[in-house]
Amino acid sequence: MRSYSLFAPAKINLYLEIIGDRPDGYHELSMVLQSIDLGDRLEIRANGTEEFRIHCQHPEVPCDRTNLAYRAAELLKTNYPEAFEQYGGADIFIDKQIPVAAGLAGGSSNAAAVLVGLEMLWDLGLTQPELQDLASQLGSDIPFCITGGTALATGRGNELEPLPDLEGLYVILAKYRSLGVSTAWAYQTYRQQFGSTYVRESTDLAARQQRVHSGPIVKAIALRDEMKVVECLHNDLEKVVLPEYPQVLKLRQTFEQFDVLGTLMSGSGPTVFALTDSREKAEQIRAQVQNTLGNPDLDFWIAQFINTGIQLAPGVH
Ligand code: C5P
Repeated sequence: MRSYSLFAPAKINLYLEIIGDRPDGYHELSMVLQSIDLGDRLEIRANGTEEFRIHCQHPEVPCDRTNLAYRAAELLKTNYPEAFEQYGGADIFIDKQIPVAAGLAGGSSNAAAVLVGLEMLWDLGLTQPELQDLASQLGSDIPFCITGGTALATGRGNELEPLPDLEGLYVILAKYRSLGVSTAWAYQTYRQQFGSTYVRESTDLAARQQRVHSGPIVKAIALRDEMKVVECLHNDLEKVVLPEYPQVLKLRQTFEQFDVLGTLMSGSGPTVFALTDSREKAEQIRAQVQNTLGNPDLDFWIAQFINTGIQLAPGVH
């Protein structure tokens, strides 16, 4: 039986601006997304049955139909029934390293890996836009997870423009193990509290989108000016998540006390990250924050920016 082994990286948001409501019920966003080398490993193995089966040891990852990775497989089956008929189902093994419900697109990245893996397993020969279109149907972050790197994401977050690679930056991530934030809750709460500030006229929306394209963070990335990039870190969702979770606010404030280039909550949180220009510095900051907060529920990771999304990992058969 054929199988593919894939690396599915996490992402962080360097920028997240909520612009307004969309007719489809989602939010119109402007984001800068960045892949990092903290990631899950997936193995997609043809099983010669009529089933997809998810295998994952992580206690918070469901192995049933609610798993986004399972839904990715079902979506391909629905769209390519002849291929399913010919090749059959698959076992999907997930070695979970990305924290769950953390604002790091862990579930989305797993779904992206399943789309890429099954596409190869079933010899579908899809173009990148075809794969991206399927990914969009499953979740707003999944198209980015496929291609990865550094990108400007607009619309629901699924319209992507690649940006030049940012190199030489390291990230320390910190998350309370027992804390997860629902993305839907974060956006809903934002709408309740800040809906009156949303851009409503389509001309204003176009102007706002234009402003994003030539905005300071995009310019700084185009110039590969890392120091300027870190000055532009911004996440609108902090306005609802930090007041609701004081320990996340405290974590962000603690990072700020030390010699970091910048700090921010990623996506809908509750992961907070800080940027440094070396691994040694990142290790030092981790120790300082750990010592200051002294909380055994707090987990840390150190990662590097990478310029790819889903990749084939060694061990391909
Ligand atoms: O697209 P995804 O399923 O990842 O989104 C999760 C939830 O986040 C949505 O159900 C929606 O409530 C919210 N969301 C939003 N606007 C976006 C992306 C997500 O309101 N652009």
